[in-house]
Amino acid sequence: MMNAHVRTEASEAARPASSLLEVKNLTTEFRTERGTVRSLHSVSFGLGEGEALGLVGESGCGKSVTALSIMGLLPQPAGRIVSGEILFNGVDLTKLSDREMEAVRGKDIALIFQDALTSLNPVLTIERQITEAARRHLGLSPAAARRRAIEFLDLVGIPAPDKRISDYPHQFSGGMRQRVMIAMALVCGPRLLIADEPTTALDVTIQAQILELLQRLRKELSMALIMITHDLGVVAGIADRVNVMYAGHVVETGMVRQIFKNASHPYTAGLLGSIPKLDSIRGSKLQSIKGTPPDLANPPPGCPFTPRCSHAFDKCAEPPPRSSPEPAHAAECWLLEAGVNTADSRGLS
Ligand SMILES: Nc1ncnc2c1ncn2[C@@H]1O[C@H](COP(=O)(O)OP(=O)(O)OP(=O)(O)O)[C@@H](O)[C@H]1O
Ligand code: SF4
Ligand SMILES: [Mg+2]
Repeated sequence: MMNAHVRTEASEAARPASSLLEVKNLTTEFRTERGTVRSLHSVSFGLGEGEALGLVGESGCGKSVTALSIMGLLPQPAGRIVSGEILFNGVDLTKLSDREMEAVRGKDIALIFQDALTSLNPVLTIERQITEAARRHLGLSPAAARRRAIEFLDLVGIPAPDKRISDYPHQFSGGMRQRVMIAMALVCGPRLLIADEPTTALDVTIQAQILELLQRLRKELSMALIMITHDLGVVAGIADRVNVMYAGHVVETGMVRQIFKNASHPYTAGLLGSIPKLDSIRGSKLQSIKGTPPDLANPPPGCPFTPRCSHAFDKCAEPPPRSSPEPAHAAECWLLEAGVNTADSRGLS
């Protein structure tokens, strides 16, 4: 069969026209007692101004490490970026000093941590915590920082923000604390917000409200968003594009509809199960695929999905190249090179 797919350079496919963020061949490792763990393998993706990107994949696939690498917050001394570039507005963040990175963090790029509900300091008032960044990054006086903080607490839906700003974190419900975290992340007007599982600890109704809030704020503030989640419904509802991660690789990337309607990687197809319609996956979690991800200290040679893939063939013992089945859509699988459409052959084990 003729090869219907175009092999692409890692960073070429699915790259938005104007890139705010360009992650190029990012490789991140941890030194552990069991040896070196490679958590990210040559990860590449781009993000345009105001665009929303979903990062999905099973636990341990490298979603948080991607966020921490971008923020320069890898646990030290174990974690380090071994190679690659993280271009934000054309500046390579991997080359910045700690001090220069501190100026970017919180101001231009903000992160809502995976354990956001425990990230607030219990012994400081919300005012202390939310005004700190506004004073440091924006050079505001205490009174101006307080006014700005109240404005942002109001924006995220905290009732009576002028009074609640004097409260301590334990005086807020889980959903309200999450709103405070969002206000704190946004107070300096970042151009990129990274939200790492921001709703996982919340009940379903509150989750929906927080997601709606993030979606609204993203548009109002013209901010780009990287949404890390296990929930395909969240991706469908909020993201323009999706990166599917497996064992530290971005195995598939594309527009939301391309990923949900025309998954090209067997892992993505496995996550989606056999549900083809976007509407019907709203609120659904990742499907479980038999087996577990590989030990990152000792990954299989070639395609990391080989031990779990019912489509595996001899070629899969070599690392698959990135191929593009259609514009803005790319995947790392030998089946694409062979011209096989995984979407039509979802017989996963
Ligand atoms: N502090 C650390 N020390 C050693 N290895 C680490 C550390 N943090 C992460 N890793 C390694 O990096 C891999 C990716 O971790 P990461 O936290 O990015 O996963 P994740 O996709 O965010 O998972 P989850 O959905 O559970 O949050 C892990 O499987 C682990 O092997
Ligand atoms: S490269 Fe081979 S093992 Fe990997 S996903 Fe494709 S078919 Fe499966
Ligand atoms: Mg994580």
